[in-house]
Amino acid sequence: MDFSIKAFDTKNTITSAKTGCVAVAVFENKKLSQAAKALDQSGEITAALKSGDITGKAGSTLLLRGISGTGAARILLVGLGNDETVSEKSFTSAVNATLKAFASLGAADAIIALPMTDVKERDVSWAVRTIVCAAHESVFRTDGQKSKKDPVPTGVRKITLAADATGDVKTALAQAIAIANGMDLTKELGNLSANVCTPAYLADTARKLAKDYKFDVEVLDRKQLQALKMGSFLSVTNGSEEAPKFIVLKHMGGKSKDAPVVLVGKGITFDTGGISIKAGPGMDEMKYDMCGAASVLGTFRAIGEMGLKLNVIGVIAACENMPSGRATKPGDIVTSMNGLTIEVLNTDAEGRLVLCDALTYCERFNPAAVIDIATLTGACVVALGHHNTGLFTRTDDAHEKLAGELLAAGKAASDTAWRMPIEEVYNEQLKSNFADLANIGTPGGGSVTAACFLENFTRKYTWAHLDIAGTAWKSGGAKGATGRPVPLLSTFLINRV
Ligand code: BES
Ligand code: MN
Ligand code: ZN
Repeated sequence: MDFSIKAFDTKNTITSAKTGCVAVAVFENKKLSQAAKALDQSGEITAALKSGDITGKAGSTLLLRGISGTGAARILLVGLGNDETVSEKSFTSAVNATLKAFASLGAADAIIALPMTDVKERDVSWAVRTIVCAAHESVFRTDGQKSKKDPVPTGVRKITLAADATGDVKTALAQAIAIANGMDLTKELGNLSANVCTPAYLADTARKLAKDYKFDVEVLDRKQLQALKMGSFLSVTNGSEEAPKFIVLKHMGGKSKDAPVVLVGKGITFDTGGISIKAGPGMDEMKYDMCGAASVLGTFRAIGEMGLKLNVIGVIAACENMPSGRATKPGDIVTSMNGLTIEVLNTDAEGRLVLCDALTYCERFNPAAVIDIATLTGACVVALGHHNTGLFTRTDDAHEKLAGELLAAGKAASDTAWRMPIEEVYNEQLKSNFADLANIGTPGGGSVTAACFLENFTRKYTWAHLDIAGTAWKSGGAKGATGRPVPLLSTFLINRV
């Protein structure tokens, strides 16, 4: 997809624009948007609306051809609901309907002239991001591992957005494209089968990104992890034939003295549960247990493309969680990098075991903030469903501020998170008779006890935890990675420059 912005005015009219298609809005009360009015020289648009061929309901469409007096070969009327209040929801469904129609047009280029400035509580930049991300999604393919590829998508490939090309809007477009490209990488990695997307594959992807965008990259192997005394992380790798990889990516785009933001991704390339093995149905979806890592890589692609003037470090703990004769057993006690001992009561609670050592490792960066991203608990899906990522932080002033920034970034990017508690009392649930901590809590609040487990390893800096178990991928017929929370993370970083 190729995007550009163009302002149409009295000199450069939308009526004279030579294009395969112009998408314009019409409303349920039979009113025309400004651009639709301009194109309605012959009255054919009004007539089409009056005829009832299109209701104007948000997401309804009608394609008109050969409208006289216009330079466009086609005009796509798109319903936007009620004209008083263009809601975010109506605008989004109009955009999706537009792109769906574009996908089957015999035209390669088109103009989107929807009223981007009229969305309630949103600005043009939001509209631009919404269109760009939806356009990427509309042509995203999942046939990379099929021998017979899906039909090559035809239709519109070049989209011009009708808007004033101010500096802010141009910046918004560049950021939107970078975020959409980052999401594409995250989705591709998530969807790849686990026999291909191994820890080594994630490391190679990080190296490739480092080459493309001039990041520093370091990949630590088992020996180096042993030297660092990452006994908790390493205990998860015991049952696997795949070598663990600990990946560190650095984008030092800010001043050298500025403390970095560190993103830490859970990179379990397949989670069988280990000896506490998972049930069969749906286990294939545990190839998505590296989506935290994939979102770190996707966000790095986005900030690399933007050349973001901020110091950002990415840390990925990648391995498989497999059963075998050498695998960690329930009741085994391991020693984490910060010295705390952990009784592994359930080998399926492995995410926190890899993350706790990664979080201890982060102390060396004197970070401004550390954010971990993990498909950590099924309990988070029970609590929040698939709409919101779970956000966990402590509650002192510095953490309230960080939580506020992350919630706001999620809202701005339409990639929302919902605050969940971290409180000392939950640590009671993590007590072990034989070690400093148990790796699972007593029943109740599973996503909270998991977050509180991690909290024990983050006391030296400001930290937030994002549980993306419900938001990183979709199940069912439309199974596939979503690219979340790349928009949230990218927007959070953009806002910190
Ligand atoms: N990767 C899973 C969490 C998960 C499960 C995410 C299903 C999305 C869908 C994680 O490693 C896990 O297995 N967690 C256990 C923890 C339990 C053993 C305390 C869970 O959620 O069941
Ligand atoms: Mn697990
Ligand atoms: Zn897992």
